[in-house]
Amino acid sequence: MDTAQHKARLRQYFDGVGFERWSAIYGGQARLSGVRRSIREGHTTMLGRAEQWAELPPAGTPATALDAGCGTGLFSLALARRGFQVAAADLAPQMAEATAKAALDAGLSDRITTRVSDLEELTGSYNLVACFDVLIHYSAEPFVQMLRHLASLCENTLLFTYAPYSPLLAAMHRVGGFFPRSERRTEIQMIHDHTVRATLADCGFTKGRARHVGKGFYHVILVQARRHA
Ligand SMILES: C[S@@+](CC[C@H](N)C(=O)[O-])C[C@H]1O[C@@H](n2cnc3c(N)ncnc32)[C@H](O)[C@@H]1O
Repeated sequence: MDTAQHKARLRQYFDGVGFERWSAIYGGQARLSGVRRSIREGHTTMLGRAEQWAELPPAGTPATALDAGCGTGLFSLALARRGFQVAAADLAPQMAEATAKAALDAGLSDRITTRVSDLEELTGSYNLVACFDVLIHYSAEPFVQMLRHLASLCENTLLFTYAPYSPLLAAMHRVGGFFPRSERRTEIQMIHDHTVRATLADCGFTKGRARHVGKGFYHVILVQARRHA
């Protein structure tokens, strides 16, 4: 399957059954299975840490941010509350709509614009670019291409997650295949650390802070990278 077909599949998934599943995980639904609860807890920890790493630029520099693959808008809202002017984009129309609605409900629609778009179609320049739990759905070649594109949009701080390669995780994902259909995750693609480091260096970025966030079936590396001066 080529990347365009893969994106079309992801768009269909996150605009349908995936929207229901992930908005239950990201939202306030009280009754969740153990697998989904662990994903919610891991994701909440990751976003909390990312928020701490999302520093506002110095006074005089516009605090602009892009949330690429915004999902239901949890991080777009957090950025807007911190004072960023946020462009939120998602491949799946239902996700982008959920972000727009969340912004409206929170009284933040003047700080958040939303659009339906593949992140590789986005243009512009942002002080901060965030992309969480999106690249985890792409194998090494599109991963590198997409990370390069995100870097090209970023003036200063790039925050993103990837699924690190580990034999243990590979085994867990194989076990995941035996869960009941309703519990199965979307396929996660593991990426070697050296691929991430080399791509960032090639784009003029340094991998600054990195933190492994692991909880049950949620395992990602959160990265804060900065453009060289
Ligand atoms: C697991 S959700 C993460 C949502 C959000 N970033 C968060 O952490 O709360 C993955 C999201 O990435 C979006 N996505 C996947 N591929 C994308 C692409 N090429 N461009 C933009 N969004 C994409 C999906 O539609 C989905 O909303």
